[in-house]
Amino acid sequence: MGSGYGFGKTIVFGEHFVVYGLPAIASAITSKTTARVKRIKGSNYKLVDNRPATPGYKEKKKEQQLDSIRRIFESLKIDPTESPVEIELAGDLIAASGVGASAASCAAIARALNEEFSLGLSDEKINEAAFEGEKGYHGTPSGIDNTAAVYGGLIKFTKTETGPKMERIRIKPVEIVLGNSGITSNTTEVVADVRRKKEEKPREFEQIFKNYARIAEEGVKAFKENDTEKIGSLMNKNHSLLQKIGVSCPELEELVGIARENGALGAKLTGTGRGGLIIALTPGKELQERIAGAIEETGKTAFRTRIG
Ligand code: MEV
Repeated sequence: MGSGYGFGKTIVFGEHFVVYGLPAIASAITSKTTARVKRIKGSNYKLVDNRPATPGYKEKKKEQQLDSIRRIFESLKIDPTESPVEIELAGDLIAASGVGASAASCAAIARALNEEFSLGLSDEKINEAAFEGEKGYHGTPSGIDNTAAVYGGLIKFTKTETGPKMERIRIKPVEIVLGNSGITSNTTEVVADVRRKKEEKPREFEQIFKNYARIAEEGVKAFKENDTEKIGSLMNKNHSLLQKIGVSCPELEELVGIARENGALGAKLTGTGRGGLIIALTPGKELQERIAGAIEETGKTAFRTRIG
């Protein structure tokens, strides 16, 4: 039997902008998806998806998931009709939009297949297979989610013409809250919509992108200096730009508002947007509990975790 894991992630700065080559900062969170692969008799692979999930998430992503697994097999040059296996997904990462659930499962599956078939792949090759798998969910992923899922920690990620560039940023872990809107978003659709808007309003987008580039630069510096107040204020600014490119929605605005009103140092949507999650920066257990509790009072779920 082969087993593997992939971390969930949260994007602190730069979702969507990263698709166009601007740097983004993402962190793995402590929750993981795990995969176990075992040989079976039969004519193809069998999937057992035991991941905890936001209601409706798995059903909505089913077709994309099958395409993704097909791509991972192909990239690892394994033919499941010749070598049938059962893939079981589990772990403590709640499968939801915004938490890198698809990338975490791609990384976990690639690792488990690597082990079962004794492929001897490095993390770099696992990341390449997970990136292929991500294409099943995203079409044209930047690669940030699978990179965070494979390597863990806090990373500065840039998509370049010659491939992904990753720099590890070492920080003392900081508490965050992820508030879940409960809405499953479609990354392919939202990314395509941003592209359309960018083509329609090139001037406006150019200015937004310039403003984001400054946030990214200051964000890296603030992380290196452990300046949580600054990181929080930059997160708020990043959220305003995400509103401008049209990827927020009333449910995310409500969650961001609750987090800020209750003292979060910063709060923004994280990931695709138009559903999914928000990230609130809440250093210390007390502040984290206050924000998570305030979100839960509205009937929404909140995850208490850490970045770094
Ligand atoms: C999704 O988690 C992040 C996006 O920037 C898409 C991508 O980077 O591929 C929206």
